[in-house]
Amino acid sequence: MTMSRRTFLAAAGFAAGTGLLSACSSGAQATTGLKGAPTTLEVFSWWTASGEKDALSSLVADFNLVNPNIKFVNEAVSGGAGTNAKAVLAQRLAAHNPPDTFQAQAGAMVGDYITAGQLEDVTFLYEQQGWKTAFNQDVLDLIQRDGKLYCVPVDIHHINLLWSNKKICDNLKISTAPQDIPEFVAGLTKVQSAGLIPLALSRDPSETWQCQHVLEAMLIGTLGADGWSALWKPGADWSSQGVTEALQSYHTVMSHAPGTGGNMSWDQVSAQLAQGKAGFQIMGDWTEASFQVGSFPLVPHVDYDWAPSPGTTGIFDFASDCFTLPIGAKHRDATIAWLIECGSQRGQDAFDTVKGAIPPRAKLASGERSLFDPYLQWSLDQWGGDRIVGSLTHGVVAPGAWNNAILAAVGDYVVTPDIEKLQSALVAAAAAHFALSAH
Ligand code: GAL
Repeated sequence: MTMSRRTFLAAAGFAAGTGLLSACSSGAQATTGLKGAPTTLEVFSWWTASGEKDALSSLVADFNLVNPNIKFVNEAVSGGAGTNAKAVLAQRLAAHNPPDTFQAQAGAMVGDYITAGQLEDVTFLYEQQGWKTAFNQDVLDLIQRDGKLYCVPVDIHHINLLWSNKKICDNLKISTAPQDIPEFVAGLTKVQSAGLIPLALSRDPSETWQCQHVLEAMLIGTLGADGWSALWKPGADWSSQGVTEALQSYHTVMSHAPGTGGNMSWDQVSAQLAQGKAGFQIMGDWTEASFQVGSFPLVPHVDYDWAPSPGTTGIFDFASDCFTLPIGAKHRDATIAWLIECGSQRGQDAFDTVKGAIPPRAKLASGERSLFDPYLQWSLDQWGGDRIVGSLTHGVVAPGAWNNAILAAVGDYVVTPDIEKLQSALVAAAAAHFALSAH
């Protein structure tokens, strides 16, 4: 039997708004070395949207069962994909005022913090907790340098997804799983003719990452897994005909995305789909979590549907949220307790089932799969069988400077939709990156 997110929260003893739980119902894990000494823990993330904040609360509730004396201080900064949070964090780190732990994505983003000397090596935790074999090896490879591990992954997110309003698609006789970009565009055109928003998206400058996310889907859908992965390695050819074709598709798809006329966050955009105002959204699987909270939940395959974004069947574009032990953390012991929670099966189940994500561990325990809803069980299967590639928009493949240059190019495109100019800017961004990394 599949347990819904609400049931899971109830089973964990968590109710929205009740804050921290007492430890009396636990007993399942030993308390940490903090014993009776009350302390605090500042947790920095960008999880403030619907689904995200509920998932964080679920994780905190489980954490406080084991660590009743650690008071969780939520230092989340709103803004999807961390657009605002990353800037605030950079200022804090520069001022040597780190939070006790912060969210970072496996791959290039964690790499930036390692290079800057801002993270403690936490290999000792992997040894102590037996995590070296418990975690997925590909994910571990992305958070290590010279054999040392620098953070603890708490989830795997699926990035290349097409979400649809199932009822709209059924009424208009459109497939919710278009196999290629032309079929997708034909569907968008039908939604437009019906007077609805074809592709829900914010075009606001503060939400350019949403447009970058769609670009990422078009590049993978056109170039395939190998072509996409080659873009991030020395010798990458951003001036290729393949990239031009991907940008042409992007241009066509974006012409069916009128924008919301304001700085709508990704979950407000998802709500347009949920409310029957829009046909499709290309977004990561945190979207699914937003369908399950608040005035919803919606019913999978009845109210909404999902599929790999067009042209990406068999490819799993992923990102993995991790937590860190910053150098200079004021409550280091509390951070260690938090990292143990994030790496534990209990913590990951409490978080991932609500977040719309799957665990980053190598194998699920027996019975664990049934905690996950139908979408997440599908994602688990795809993760097990697909070609895995890393996300640009969500921190895996490109370091911050390169990522920001691409984001700026996308922002310019949104203002002046000129794909030749976009391609030149992408070529220049790659050249700047490879010139810098040659030194
Ligand atoms: C991603 C992050 C997710 C989700 C999303 C929207 O970058 O990995 O956890 O929060 O942004 O904010």
